[in-house]
Amino acid sequence: MKQKVIYSGIQPSGIMTLGNYIGAVNEWREIQNEENNFCIFEVADLHTITVRQDPAALRKNSLDMLALLLAAGIDFKNSILYLQSHVHEHSELSWLLNCYTYVGEMNRMTQFKEKSEKHADNINMGLMDYPVLMAADILLFKTDVVPVGIDQRQHLEIARDIALRFNNIYGDTFTVPEARVRKMGAKIASLQNPLAKMSKSDPNPNAVIGVLNSEKEIISKIKKAVTDSGSEIIYDPENKPGVSNLLTILSIARKQDMDSLVKEFEGKMYGHLKIATAEAVVEMLRPFRERYEEFRSDEWYLMQVAKYGAERASVIAEKTLKEVKEKIGFVL
Ligand code: TRP
Repeated sequence: MKQKVIYSGIQPSGIMTLGNYIGAVNEWREIQNEENNFCIFEVADLHTITVRQDPAALRKNSLDMLALLLAAGIDFKNSILYLQSHVHEHSELSWLLNCYTYVGEMNRMTQFKEKSEKHADNINMGLMDYPVLMAADILLFKTDVVPVGIDQRQHLEIARDIALRFNNIYGDTFTVPEARVRKMGAKIASLQNPLAKMSKSDPNPNAVIGVLNSEKEIISKIKKAVTDSGSEIIYDPENKPGVSNLLTILSIARKQDMDSLVKEFEGKMYGHLKIATAEAVVEMLRPFRERYEEFRSDEWYLMQVAKYGAERASVIAEKTLKEVKEKIGFVL
Protein backbone atom coordinates (compact mmCIF):
# COMPACT_ATOMS: atom_id res chain seq x y z
CA MET A 1 0.00 0.00 0.00
CA LYS A 2 1.25 3.45 -0.89
CA GLN A 3 2.29 5.62 2.03
CA LYS A 4 0.05 8.53 2.79
CA VAL A 5 1.61 11.91 3.34
CA ILE A 6 0.15 13.66 6.37
CA TYR A 7 0.97 17.32 6.89
CA SER A 8 0.06 19.75 9.63
CA GLY A 9 1.32 22.86 11.32
CA ILE A 10 0.96 24.76 14.55
CA GLN A 11 1.81 28.38 15.18
CA PRO A 12 4.35 29.24 17.85
CA SER A 13 2.25 32.00 19.28
CA GLY A 14 2.11 32.07 23.06
CA ILE A 15 1.23 29.17 25.25
CA MET A 16 0.03 25.70 24.37
CA THR A 17 -3.38 25.18 25.93
CA LEU A 18 -4.91 21.99 27.22
CA GLY A 19 -7.22 22.32 24.21
CA ASN A 20 -4.27 22.34 21.77
CA TYR A 21 -2.69 19.44 23.58
CA ILE A 22 -5.77 17.27 23.70
CA GLY A 23 -6.94 18.31 20.26
CA ALA A 24 -4.10 18.86 17.85
CA VAL A 25 -1.06 17.34 19.42
CA ASN A 26 -2.57 14.12 20.74
CA GLU A 27 -4.11 13.58 17.33
CA TRP A 28 -0.81 14.14 15.58
CA ARG A 29 0.80 11.50 17.71
CA GLU A 30 -1.99 9.06 16.98
CA ILE A 31 -1.84 9.68 13.25
CA GLN A 32 1.90 9.31 13.36
CA ASN A 33 1.52 5.89 14.89
CA GLU A 34 -1.01 4.68 12.32
CA GLU A 35 0.44 2.39 9.71
CA ASN A 36 1.36 3.68 6.29
CA ASN A 37 1.44 7.32 7.26
CA PHE A 38 4.41 9.52 6.59
CA CYS A 39 3.98 12.59 8.76
CA ILE A 40 5.45 16.04 8.37
CA PHE A 41 4.85 18.65 11.07
CA GLU A 42 5.94 22.24 11.02
CA VAL A 43 6.16 25.01 13.55
CA ALA A 44 4.48 27.65 11.40
CA ASP A 45 6.58 30.64 12.39
CA LEU A 46 6.10 32.45 9.08
CA HIS A 47 2.37 32.47 9.71
CA THR A 48 2.89 33.95 13.13
CA ILE A 49 4.30 37.26 11.93
CA THR A 50 1.00 38.12 10.25
CA VAL A 51 0.34 39.53 13.73
CA ARG A 52 3.10 41.73 15.16
CA GLN A 53 5.59 39.72 17.27
CA ASP A 54 8.30 40.79 19.63
CA PRO A 55 11.54 39.30 18.19
CA ALA A 56 12.75 37.78 21.45
CA ALA A 57 9.33 36.32 22.15
CA LEU A 58 9.03 34.84 18.68
CA ARG A 59 12.37 33.13 19.03
CA LYS A 60 11.53 31.81 22.50
CA ASN A 61 8.05 30.66 21.50
CA SER A 62 9.37 28.82 18.45
CA LEU A 63 11.84 26.82 20.53
CA ASP A 64 9.23 26.27 23.23
CA MET A 65 6.89 24.83 20.63
CA LEU A 66 9.54 22.54 19.27
CA ALA A 67 10.24 21.22 22.79
CA LEU A 68 6.50 20.87 23.48
CA LEU A 69 6.01 18.79 20.35
CA LEU A 70 8.93 16.55 21.18
CA ALA A 71 7.64 16.15 24.72
CA ALA A 72 4.23 15.24 23.36
CA GLY A 73 5.75 12.35 21.49
CA ILE A 74 6.27 13.67 17.98
CA ASP A 75 8.89 11.36 16.56
CA PHE A 76 11.38 13.58 14.80
CA LYS A 77 13.18 10.65 13.24
CA ASN A 78 10.34 8.73 11.64
CA SER A 79 8.31 11.85 10.97
CA ILE A 80 9.69 15.21 9.91
CA LEU A 81 9.55 18.08 12.39
CA TYR A 82 10.92 21.50 11.47
CA LEU A 83 10.57 25.25 11.59
CA GLN A 84 8.80 26.67 8.55
CA SER A 85 11.21 29.59 8.18
CA HIS A 86 14.13 27.17 7.80
CA VAL A 87 12.75 25.94 4.50
CA HIS A 88 12.72 28.86 2.10
CA GLU A 89 10.62 27.01 -0.46
CA HIS A 90 7.54 27.89 1.61
CA SER A 91 7.96 31.56 0.88
CA GLU A 92 8.86 30.98 -2.73
CA LEU A 93 5.98 28.66 -3.57
CA SER A 94 3.66 30.99 -1.78
CA TRP A 95 4.61 33.81 -4.17
CA LEU A 96 4.04 31.58 -7.15
CA LEU A 97 0.66 30.41 -5.86
CA ASN A 98 -0.34 34.02 -5.22
CA CYS A 99 -0.51 34.43 -8.96
CA TYR A 100 -3.14 31.68 -9.11
CA THR A 101 -5.27 32.99 -6.27
CA TYR A 102 -7.91 35.69 -6.53
CA VAL A 103 -8.19 38.66 -4.25
CA GLY A 104 -11.92 38.04 -4.03
CA GLU A 105 -11.35 34.56 -2.63
CA MET A 106 -9.04 35.86 0.07
CA ASN A 107 -11.40 38.68 0.95
CA ARG A 108 -14.11 36.16 1.75
CA MET A 109 -12.05 34.16 4.25
CA THR A 110 -13.75 34.11 7.63
CA GLN A 111 -10.52 34.13 9.59
CA PHE A 112 -9.16 37.08 7.61
CA LYS A 113 -12.30 39.04 8.37
CA GLU A 114 -12.15 38.15 12.05
CA LYS A 115 -8.46 38.94 12.39
CA SER A 116 -8.90 42.20 10.49
CA GLU A 117 -11.40 43.29 13.08
CA LYS A 118 -9.19 42.20 15.92
CA HIS A 119 -6.04 43.81 14.53
CA ALA A 120 -7.59 46.78 12.77
CA ASP A 121 -4.35 48.75 13.04
CA ASN A 122 -2.34 46.09 11.22
CA ILE A 123 -4.28 44.58 8.33
CA ASN A 124 -1.16 43.66 6.43
CA MET A 125 -0.90 41.77 3.15
CA GLY A 126 0.43 38.73 4.99
CA LEU A 127 -2.74 38.50 7.01
CA MET A 128 -4.72 38.36 3.81
CA ASP A 129 -2.24 35.98 2.21
CA TYR A 130 -2.17 33.59 5.17
CA PRO A 131 -4.21 30.89 3.37
CA VAL A 132 -1.90 30.94 0.34
CA LEU A 133 1.14 30.35 2.53
CA MET A 134 -0.77 27.53 4.17
CA ALA A 135 -1.59 26.11 0.73
CA ALA A 136 2.12 26.30 -0.13
CA ASP A 137 2.97 24.40 3.08
CA ILE A 138 0.62 21.63 2.18
CA LEU A 139 1.18 21.43 -1.57
CA LEU A 140 4.99 21.45 -1.36
CA PHE A 141 4.85 17.99 0.16
CA LYS A 142 2.19 16.50 -2.14
CA THR A 143 0.15 15.97 0.98
CA ASP A 144 -2.74 13.50 1.01
CA VAL A 145 -4.30 14.33 4.36
CA VAL A 146 -4.24 17.44 6.58
CA PRO A 147 -5.40 17.08 10.18
CA VAL A 148 -6.89 20.41 11.23
CA GLY A 149 -9.37 21.97 13.59
CA ILE A 150 -12.73 23.01 12.22
CA ASP A 151 -11.60 26.66 12.06
CA GLN A 152 -9.06 25.76 9.36
CA ARG A 153 -11.47 23.96 7.08
CA GLN A 154 -12.01 26.97 4.84
CA HIS A 155 -8.26 27.37 4.39
CA LEU A 156 -8.05 23.78 3.33
CA GLU A 157 -10.77 24.28 0.76
CA ILE A 158 -8.71 27.08 -0.75
CA ALA A 159 -5.63 24.88 -0.82
CA ARG A 160 -7.64 22.32 -2.75
CA ASP A 161 -8.98 24.97 -5.15
CA ILE A 162 -5.49 26.29 -5.83
CA ALA A 163 -4.14 22.79 -6.42
CA LEU A 164 -6.95 21.95 -8.83
CA ARG A 165 -6.59 25.25 -10.62
CA PHE A 166 -2.87 24.79 -11.11
CA ASN A 167 -3.31 21.19 -12.25
CA ASN A 168 -5.94 22.29 -14.76
CA ILE A 169 -3.61 24.81 -16.32
CA TYR A 170 -0.33 22.88 -16.25
CA GLY A 171 -1.30 19.24 -15.93
CA ASP A 172 -1.09 17.00 -12.91
CA THR A 173 1.34 18.59 -10.47
CA PHE A 174 -0.11 18.83 -6.98
CA THR A 175 -1.89 16.22 -4.93
CA VAL A 176 -5.29 17.59 -3.97
CA PRO A 177 -5.26 17.32 -0.17
CA GLU A 178 -8.08 16.12 2.02
CA ALA A 179 -8.96 17.61 5.37
CA ARG A 180 -9.21 15.40 8.40
CA VAL A 181 -11.26 17.63 10.65
CA ARG A 182 -11.01 16.84 14.33
CA LYS A 183 -13.99 15.25 16.00
CA MET A 184 -16.16 17.52 18.10
CA GLY A 185 -15.53 15.36 21.16
CA ALA A 186 -11.97 16.55 21.20
CA LYS A 187 -12.99 20.17 21.47
CA ILE A 188 -12.24 21.61 24.86
CA ALA A 189 -14.24 24.62 25.97
CA SER A 190 -13.22 27.61 28.06
CA LEU A 191 -13.50 26.92 31.79
CA GLN A 192 -15.20 30.27 32.30
CA ASN A 193 -17.55 30.19 29.32
CA PRO A 194 -18.21 26.60 28.31
CA LEU A 195 -19.94 27.78 25.13
CA ALA A 196 -16.67 29.17 23.76
CA LYS A 197 -13.56 27.29 22.71
CA MET A 198 -10.59 27.24 25.10
CA SER A 199 -8.39 29.81 23.41
CA LYS A 200 -4.90 30.98 24.24
CA SER A 201 -5.93 34.54 23.45
CA ASP A 202 -8.64 34.52 26.13
CA PRO A 203 -8.03 37.54 28.39
CA ASN A 204 -9.29 35.67 31.45
CA PRO A 205 -6.45 33.43 32.69
CA ASN A 206 -8.90 31.27 34.62
CA ALA A 207 -10.57 30.25 31.37
CA VAL A 208 -7.50 28.55 29.98
CA ILE A 209 -5.23 25.78 31.18
CA GLY A 210 -1.75 26.05 29.74
CA VAL A 211 0.06 22.72 29.57
CA LEU A 212 2.95 24.32 31.44
CA ASN A 213 0.83 25.80 34.22
CA SER A 214 1.88 24.67 37.67
CA GLU A 215 -0.11 21.93 39.37
CA LYS A 216 -1.44 24.48 41.83
CA GLU A 217 -2.67 26.73 39.04
CA ILE A 218 -4.34 23.84 37.25
CA ILE A 219 -6.16 22.71 40.36
CA SER A 220 -7.28 26.22 41.20
CA LYS A 221 -8.55 26.92 37.67
CA ILE A 222 -10.53 23.70 37.48
CA LYS A 223 -12.01 24.33 40.92
CA LYS A 224 -13.21 27.73 39.69
CA ALA A 225 -14.64 26.33 36.46
CA VAL A 226 -18.15 27.53 35.66
CA THR A 227 -20.68 24.73 35.98
CA ASP A 228 -24.40 24.57 35.26
CA SER A 229 -27.59 24.87 37.22
CA GLY A 230 -28.90 21.70 38.84
CA SER A 231 -26.66 19.18 40.50
CA GLU A 232 -26.76 16.07 38.38
CA ILE A 233 -23.57 14.98 36.64
CA ILE A 234 -24.56 13.93 33.14
CA TYR A 235 -23.01 14.32 29.72
CA ASP A 236 -25.32 16.74 27.93
CA PRO A 237 -23.31 19.41 26.07
CA GLU A 238 -26.42 21.35 25.13
CA ASN A 239 -28.04 21.74 28.53
CA LYS A 240 -25.00 21.17 30.71
CA PRO A 241 -22.07 22.57 28.79
CA GLY A 242 -19.88 23.25 31.83
CA VAL A 243 -20.26 19.82 33.40
CA SER A 244 -19.94 18.15 30.00
CA ASN A 245 -16.71 20.01 29.33
CA LEU A 246 -15.26 18.76 32.62
CA LEU A 247 -16.43 15.24 31.81
CA THR A 248 -14.77 15.46 28.38
CA ILE A 249 -11.51 16.60 29.90
CA LEU A 250 -11.67 13.91 32.56
CA SER A 251 -12.50 11.21 30.06
CA ILE A 252 -9.53 12.12 27.88
CA ALA A 253 -7.14 12.63 30.78
CA ARG A 254 -8.02 9.24 32.26
CA LYS A 255 -8.62 7.52 28.91
CA GLN A 256 -11.93 6.35 30.33
CA ASP A 257 -15.15 6.13 28.32
CA MET A 258 -17.94 8.55 29.03
CA ASP A 259 -20.59 6.00 30.07
CA SER A 260 -18.51 4.51 32.81
CA LEU A 261 -17.48 7.98 33.99
CA VAL A 262 -21.05 9.16 34.25
CA LYS A 263 -21.91 6.02 36.17
CA GLU A 264 -19.02 6.60 38.54
CA PHE A 265 -20.31 10.09 39.33
CA GLU A 266 -23.93 9.12 39.85
CA GLY A 267 -25.16 10.77 43.02
CA LYS A 268 -21.95 12.74 43.48
CA MET A 269 -21.56 16.50 43.48
CA TYR A 270 -19.98 18.96 41.07
CA GLY A 271 -17.16 19.43 43.58
CA HIS A 272 -16.23 15.76 43.30
CA LEU A 273 -16.10 16.01 39.54
CA LYS A 274 -13.84 19.05 39.72
CA ILE A 275 -11.39 17.43 42.08
CA ALA A 276 -11.25 14.25 40.02
CA THR A 277 -10.75 16.26 36.83
CA ALA A 278 -8.03 18.42 38.34
CA GLU A 279 -6.17 15.36 39.60
CA ALA A 280 -6.45 13.56 36.28
CA VAL A 281 -5.18 16.57 34.32
CA VAL A 282 -2.27 17.03 36.68
CA GLU A 283 -1.41 13.33 36.35
CA MET A 284 -1.66 13.46 32.56
CA LEU A 285 0.53 16.54 32.25
CA ARG A 286 3.19 15.70 34.83
CA PRO A 287 5.32 13.34 32.70
CA PHE A 288 4.75 15.59 29.72
CA ARG A 289 6.03 18.61 31.59
CA GLU A 290 9.06 16.71 32.81
CA ARG A 291 9.95 15.67 29.27
CA TYR A 292 9.40 19.23 28.13
CA GLU A 293 11.80 20.65 30.74
CA GLU A 294 14.41 18.18 29.63
CA PHE A 295 14.14 19.08 25.95
CA ARG A 296 13.81 22.79 26.58
CA SER A 297 16.89 22.99 28.74
CA ASP A 298 19.10 21.91 25.86
CA GLU A 299 18.88 24.48 23.07
CA TRP A 300 21.75 22.94 21.19
CA TYR A 301 19.82 19.69 20.95
CA LEU A 302 16.67 21.51 19.87
CA MET A 303 18.61 23.25 17.12
CA GLN A 304 19.99 19.92 15.92
CA VAL A 305 16.48 18.50 15.75
CA ALA A 306 15.29 21.57 13.84
CA LYS A 307 18.17 21.42 11.39
CA TYR A 308 17.72 17.72 10.81
CA GLY A 309 14.04 18.26 10.09
CA ALA A 310 14.65 21.22 7.80
CA GLU A 311 17.21 19.31 5.77
CA ARG A 312 14.83 16.45 5.16
CA ALA A 313 11.90 18.74 4.44
CA SER A 314 14.02 20.74 2.00
CA VAL A 315 14.78 17.70 -0.10
CA ILE A 316 11.09 17.19 -0.80
CA ALA A 317 10.22 20.86 -1.04
CA GLU A 318 13.01 21.60 -3.49
CA LYS A 319 11.88 18.86 -5.81
CA THR A 320 8.29 20.10 -5.91
CA LEU A 321 9.30 23.70 -6.36
CA LYS A 322 11.52 22.83 -9.29
CA GLU A 323 8.71 20.94 -10.94
CA VAL A 324 6.35 23.88 -10.45
CA LYS A 325 8.83 26.41 -11.82
CA GLU A 326 9.47 24.27 -14.83
CA LYS A 327 5.76 23.95 -15.56
CA ILE A 328 5.20 27.68 -15.26
CA GLY A 329 7.94 28.27 -17.80
CA PHE A 330 10.84 29.67 -15.84
CA VAL A 331 14.28 29.08 -17.28
CA LEU A 332 15.89 26.56 -14.92
N1 TRP B 1 -3.14 27.82 10.18
C1 TRP B 1 -2.98 26.69 11.02
C2 TRP B 1 -3.60 27.00 12.41
O1 TRP B 1 -3.51 28.11 12.87
C3 TRP B 1 -1.54 26.32 11.19
C4 TRP B 1 -0.96 25.86 9.90
C5 TRP B 1 -0.04 26.51 9.16
C6 TRP B 1 -1.27 24.66 9.22
N2 TRP B 1 0.25 25.79 8.03
C7 TRP B 1 -0.48 24.65 8.06
C8 TRP B 1 -2.15 23.60 9.49
C9 TRP B 1 -0.57 23.62 7.12
C10 TRP B 1 -2.22 22.55 8.56
C11 TRP B 1 -1.43 22.59 7.39
O2 TRP B 1 -4.13 26.11 13.01
